[in-house]
Amino acid sequence: MSELRIAVIPGDGIGVEVIAEAERALGAVAASAGRKLALTRFEWGADHYLKTGVTLPADAIPHLVGNFDAILLGAMGDPRVPDNRHAADILLGLRFKLDLYVNYRPVKLFHERLCPLKGQTPAQVDFAVFRENTEGLYVMMGGHFKQGTPDEVATEIDLNTRKGVERIVRHAFAFAAERGRKRVVMADKSNVLVHAHELWLRVFREVAKEYPAIEARHLYVDNLVLQMVREPGQFEVIVTSNMFGDIVTDLAAGLQGGLGMAASGNIHPGKLSLFEPVHGSSPPLAGKNVANPMGAILTAGLMLEHLGWREEAARIEAACRAAVEAEETTVDVGGRLGTREVGAAIAARLK
Ligand code: IPM
Ligand code: MN
Repeated sequence: MSELRIAVIPGDGIGVEVIAEAERALGAVAASAGRKLALTRFEWGADHYLKTGVTLPADAIPHLVGNFDAILLGAMGDPRVPDNRHAADILLGLRFKLDLYVNYRPVKLFHERLCPLKGQTPAQVDFAVFRENTEGLYVMMGGHFKQGTPDEVATEIDLNTRKGVERIVRHAFAFAAERGRKRVVMADKSNVLVHAHELWLRVFREVAKEYPAIEARHLYVDNLVLQMVREPGQFEVIVTSNMFGDIVTDLAAGLQGGLGMAASGNIHPGKLSLFEPVHGSSPPLAGKNVANPMGAILTAGLMLEHLGWREEAARIEAACRAAVEAEETTVDVGGRLGTREVGAAIAARLK
């Protein structure tokens, strides 16, 4: 790929600040490689919504698909929009409308001191979570009955399709096979969700047969979270449903130093995909130059890797790792620097 065209949606709160540092890292790594990368900003978010009433513009999808190689998003969420409608429309809207069925969340500990567990080394906390990203409890199907009365009923449907389950499970195994990983865990709650998660278990066992060299292990999700805290080193690849993946990846982020360190990709292989740090917009931290930009910078690295800029992606990860080792970090991970200073320290390593 010659020139990369990236659509950048900084969003709200600290999203704006961390994305500026991700842009700086991208600029530095592209310049030093003599490669071209064009960043185009889209100011969609709470401000835009409050001014115009528009969350995700009607022509957004065809415009993005027609003109960009990837989307880099900061964070969505603002106290002035109490129901966070814009966040649902923009982030979940892009996930659904672009059919980004893989939520890829790598979990890597860069230094022992960042892990809240005793005695965990970077070699032990190094796994990937694949979260189904287009169905499950996120489809917003359900309803209210007798709302506002003492007899009120509310339902939410957990929608699981054969196609949806199979493609994420396949993706996890294919990833493991490609990366030389030997173990895939699928976490569900099939002992209780006897219809929806029976489907997960059956599909998992079927697909696993095609990968005899990979150990396929099934865990109930409650046991998974216990095991993740007791001995994270046993995990290489984890695949799970949308809602469980949401919860499990916050815990996983904790293992690597917190949400400020966690990167993610919302991917449809071969199609326009969206990359975003796992953290939210964190209104109380916004505008104070304290947010950790590493999650966003690592996310930019994931995006480059996805687009085939492997060496540049590896350099971004190495620069973040080196900054952590040199204690050039924000307060949340024990350092003393601000957002911009960490961004500058990482960019300097990329020049
Ligand atoms: C995440 C977030 C989102 C989710 C929210 C903001 C809708 O928590 O990306 O993990 O639940 O998927
Ligand atoms: Mn989440």
